[in-house]
Amino acid sequence: MLTKSKKFKLSQKEIERISNEILNLKKEKNAIILAHYYQELEVQDIADKIGDSLGLSQVAKDVQDADTIVFAGVHFMAETAKILSPSKKVLIPDPRAGCPMANQCTPDIVKAAREQHGEDIPVVVYVNTTAETKAVAYVTCTSSNAPIVVKNLGSKKVLFGPDRNLGLFVQKQLPDVEVIPIPEDGHCIVHKRFSVEAINEHLKRYPDAHIIAHPECNIEIQEMADFVGSTSGLRKYGRETDAKVIIVATEKGLVDRLNRDIPEKNFILAKDTAICRNMKKITIENLRDSLLYEQYEIIIPKEIQDKAKKAILRMFELT
Ligand code: 13P
Ligand code: SF4
Repeated sequence: MLTKSKKFKLSQKEIERISNEILNLKKEKNAIILAHYYQELEVQDIADKIGDSLGLSQVAKDVQDADTIVFAGVHFMAETAKILSPSKKVLIPDPRAGCPMANQCTPDIVKAAREQHGEDIPVVVYVNTTAETKAVAYVTCTSSNAPIVVKNLGSKKVLFGPDRNLGLFVQKQLPDVEVIPIPEDGHCIVHKRFSVEAINEHLKRYPDAHIIAHPECNIEIQEMADFVGSTSGLRKYGRETDAKVIIVATEKGLVDRLNRDIPEKNFILAKDTAICRNMKKITIENLRDSLLYEQYEIIIPKEIQDKAKKAILRMFELT
C-alpha cells in the first residue's frame, strides 16, 4: 500500500533497525540496491552502489548475480535499469517518484520536431525522459556525456531535449553544431531555483569560494561557475579542489554527502530550496517495504523496451 512520505525524521535507532531489516531482506531476495546522490543519506548508506544517472545505468547493465534491482531514485532511472537489465525484476519503492522534466518531451513533440526540421536530423534525448520517448529517439545522453555524444554523432544539427540548459551547455562546447531544443523551454524545476543573486550573497561572505553547478542550471549560473558537471563530476571536483569553501548549485542530497565525506571543506547549497521532492519520496521505510512485498515492479511493453534499449546502447557505443 502506498503511504504518505514521512513527515518526521526517524531516530538513529529506528534508522539502524530498518537498515538491518533491509540487509536481511536483500540477502533473502538476492537483491541489490542502487541509489542516486539526491537520496537522503540514510538511503544512500544502505545502497550497494550510489552514483549519477550514467554510473547507475552502467551498473544496472552489468548486474549478473542479483535477481532483483531496487532503484532508489526517480522513475526514469528505474525504467533505464529495467531496459538495460530486462531479465531482472526492477522495483521502485514509490512509483510516484517521477521526474517532471521527463514528461516535457513526449513522443509527439519528437515527431513534430522531426516534421518541422527534417527527418534526417538525429534526435538526442536526455535520460531524463520516459521509455516511450527514448524509443523514438536515435540516442540518449546524460549530464556527464552529452557533449561527447553530440560531438561523436558528427551531425551539423541535432534535435535535443528536454533540458534546454543542458542543450545550451552542449552548444557552448560545440559551436559548429546547431543544437535545436525540443521543446523550446524544457527544464528542471529544482535547478531553475538557483539565482545569480543568491550565489552573490554567498560570495559576499566567502569571496574565495569556488562555484560548481549542474548543467541543468540556467546558463548565467553555468557561466559564473568554476566547474559545470554531472553529480559525479561535481563530487570529484569537490574532492580534488584546493578551495576550502565550495558553493554548490545542485540538489541538496549531493551537498549533504559532500559535507559528510569531506568534513575539512565547507560545501554550501547555493539555494536552500533546491530539494527534489520526487527523489525524497523514497525513504528507508518504503525501501524496506519494496523488498518485503516486491513492489512496485517496473513493467515496460516489450516493443518500447527494445527500441529504447537501442537508443541507450548507442550512447554507450558513441562514448
Ligand atoms: P546526474 O546524471 O548528474 O546524476 O543528474 C540526474 C538528475 O536528475 C539531475 O537533476
Ligand atoms: Fe528531475 Fe530535477 Fe529532480 Fe533531477 S532534480 S530528478 S531533473 S526534477
